[in-house]
Amino acid sequence: MEDISKKIALSGIQPTGSVTLGNYLGAVQNWRKMQEDFSSIFFIADMHALTVKREPADLRQASMSFFAQLLACGIDPEKAIVYFQSHVHQHAELQWILNCNTYVGEISRMTQFKDKSAKHADNINMGLMDYPVLMAADILLFQTDLVPVGQDQKQHLELTRDIAIRFNNRYGDTFKVPEPYIPELGAKICSLQDPLVKMSKSDPDPNAIVSIVDDEATIVRRFKRAVTDSGNEIVVREDKPGISNLINIYAAIEGKTPADVEKEFAGQGYGSFKIAVGEAVAAAFKPLRDDYVRYLNDKAALMELAKKGAEKASWLATKTLRKVRKRVGLVE
Ligand code: TRP
Repeated sequence: MEDISKKIALSGIQPTGSVTLGNYLGAVQNWRKMQEDFSSIFFIADMHALTVKREPADLRQASMSFFAQLLACGIDPEKAIVYFQSHVHQHAELQWILNCNTYVGEISRMTQFKDKSAKHADNINMGLMDYPVLMAADILLFQTDLVPVGQDQKQHLELTRDIAIRFNNRYGDTFKVPEPYIPELGAKICSLQDPLVKMSKSDPDPNAIVSIVDDEATIVRRFKRAVTDSGNEIVVREDKPGISNLINIYAAIEGKTPADVEKEFAGQGYGSFKIAVGEAVAAAFKPLRDDYVRYLNDKAALMELAKKGAEKASWLATKTLRKVRKRVGLVE
């Protein structure tokens, strides 16, 4: 964070499940690159996680585990600010002020709120509705320039921009209006059991995903069980979503193009191809898993890193919040 002239990039990840192959190739790998190019801020969105019912012990364990997983994936606390959202109280403070500048009408139009309300019909709590405003606070708190977001979070970023612009118009220039960041590497990885849907870390079917915390045998077994298509050609084609997904995975892991992979496996059967993909993923994940275990086994060191991250984030957040409080008329 030393170089202030650099653009600020920020992203959060919810501590559910673990970092899957999809998260790794789709998001976390880009974060690793972003920390070289930008002043990057990454946090575990543990407050967002409270919007759905969760065993407290499980949430705490998953949050710690996620922190260790990010470090294992190469997110470097020397290069980026990494912390737990709940350790920086300014997120919640700014959320309140933004709440008072957000309309119930626009919030009730959020598609994710509608989807989640349907999914958690017994628990449509205020937090679920207010989720996007907390996200806006996360982003605006740091005068963020760039937010890498997937399709499912685009609407939330749009709302963040609307809130920032509205606030700036009403109270004078206060927030940087953030832009979406579309990373260069962006493999879309699909479920191993249903190649028509994105691989999701909250998929209830363990066979649909592999993650960096899985051991080699598990990873290879899941690939052996991966759903393929009829026929026997190893080619990327619209009517072959299963094999296309496996080709994309192998290509992304090995740093090859899908065309290279088609050539490499021409004439081979699905069975041996699936094993080859599984072994390649397992080999790539092995050092990550080892690092993950090492980090998780030293809780004191992990918490020390988290504390330092929160301190840096808090320092930056205070600068914005001080300005905001003044703008809206709170007594200094
Ligand atoms: N809502 C995001 C998700 O589920 C996580 C998140 C929370 C986030 N705050 C953020 C992402 C701020 C980007 C910026 O994926």
